[in-house]
Parts: sequence; C-alpha cells; structure tokens
Amino acid sequence: MPPQDQPNLEHVPEHIAIILDGNGRWAKKRGLPRLFGHQAGTQNLRGIVDACAAYGIKYLTIFAFSTENWKRPPDEVSGLMALLEDRIEHWLLQLHEHGVQLRHLGHLEGVHARLAEKIQNAIELTRNNTRIVLNFAFNYGGRDEIVRAVQHMIEDGLHSWEITPERISDYLYTAGQPDPDLIIRTSGEFRTSNFLVWQSAYSEWYFTPVFWPDFDERELRKALEFFAKRERRFGKVPEQVSPAAG
Ligand code: IPE
Ligand code: IPE
Ligand code: MG
Repeated sequence: MPPQDQPNLEHVPEHIAIILDGNGRWAKKRGLPRLFGHQAGTQNLRGIVDACAAYGIKYLTIFAFSTENWKRPPDEVSGLMALLEDRIEHWLLQLHEHGVQLRHLGHLEGVHARLAEKIQNAIELTRNNTRIVLNFAFNYGGRDEIVRAVQHMIEDGLHSWEITPERISDYLYTAGQPDPDLIIRTSGEFRTSNFLVWQSAYSEWYFTPVFWPDFDERELRKALEFFAKRERRFGKVPEQVSPAAG
C-alpha cells in the first residue's frame, strides 16, 4: 500500500517494468544457496503488485525469466520453474480477487507442460480483470520478440509500406498496451539484458543497488519520486513540454 501519510505523487507512471535482479547475490551475502534468493525474491513480488495497484499504476511488467536464463545450471533452472509454478498456484485466486489481469510476455515452447498449462489457465481466469495488468515476462527475450513479430508479419502477407512503428508494436507481446514509462533495475547492474528492446525507446530508467528481495514499498516509493521529477521531452525542447520552463 502507498503510505497514507505521504503526499500524493504528481505523476504516477501508467506502466512500470521491473528487471528484478540480485536474488543470487542476496543469498550469497547470507551464505545461502541461490535458490533461497529466488524464494525471497518471488515472495517480495506479492507486496509490490499490491503497492503498484494501490498507486493506480495500470500496467506492471516483471522480468521473471529470460530466454538466456536457460543457460544457468540445470538445478537452478528446475528450482526456479518449480518455484514459479508453486507461486502461480498459490497466488492465483488472491490476484484474481484483487482485480489483477495476468498476461504472459514470451513463448511457452519448451516450457514444461504443467507450468505452461498453469500460465494459460491463469491468463484465462483473469482476462476480464481491470484493476491492474500484470505482465509476466517469462521465457522472454526482446530480440526473440522482434524476430517473431517480423515472422508473423511476413506470414500475414504484409506489404513493405504497411510496416510502421505502430504496426510492429501491434505484433509484439505487449500489443495494445502503452510502452513502459519507467523501467527499474535492481542490484546495481546497468544494462538492459534483452528486456523490452523495442518498447523501452522512451522509457525513464531507474537503477538501484538494492537487491530485488530487499526492494520493498519504500524503495518503490523512491523510484516513483524519481520518476515524478523527470521531464520527458520525446525529442522536443523544454519550453515545448513545460511552458513554465521558458
Ligand atoms: C534475478 O536474480 C532472477 C533471475 C534472473 C531469474 P539473479 O539470479 O540474476 O541474481 P544475481 O544477479 O545472480 O545476483
Ligand atoms: C535479467 O537478469 C533477466 C531477469 C531478471 C529475469 P540476468 O541476471 O539474467 O541478467 P545478466 O545475465 O546479468 O545480464
Ligand atoms: Mg542477475
């Protein structure tokens, strides 16, 4: 929940995307196996979803597993899959009752059938919810997304003159959604790691050294305060976007 005693934020992003990073290092710092970090990280997600909904954020995208994360040691990959499956099962009805609409960014080829079915069922169950859209970027890669979009455009027989930025957006997993206004990356890494390659063209980026399991509602508030102070110019000059600046 956003703290009631704090002033309202002037500009709350419509769409926040989070690269939740640092689970492994969080665990290592405590002398624990990496999977404990993933457990703590997954647990942390629940409160952040509620807090974002309470702030009136309409879209929240979380990067849970990339197309490159399959390269990790098999034990870690299978542990992560089991954890995600468990959390979807555990949280689905609560999320549904809270008006969360779950969507999946990525593809399910090669994903264990039971997990793939749970993801599809969750999407189906929550499809008419309107409080907040939770995009679950799982087995997601930005380049992979663009390649698939191009393949589908060719399969649909589009002519070269029909290819526009808007048309490409319509073929991405995020079709119909606004681009992320704010992208948060935790754990002190300054890179995109193939996340929302197309959609992030004009996003504001917020980097924090905090490891994901420690990224609580207060940390979220800091990111939102940072965002509220940004002046987004989209190529224009300051006087055009906020006349008071002149
Ligand atoms: C992010 O934490 C979670 C996933 C990528 C699945 P990491 O597992 O990348 O944690 P670090 O970066 O090794 O600390
Ligand atoms: C990005 O984090 C992927 C997710 C958060 C799911 P990584 O930890 O996999 O990124 P790199 O490998 O350090 O760039
Ligand atoms: Mg990492």
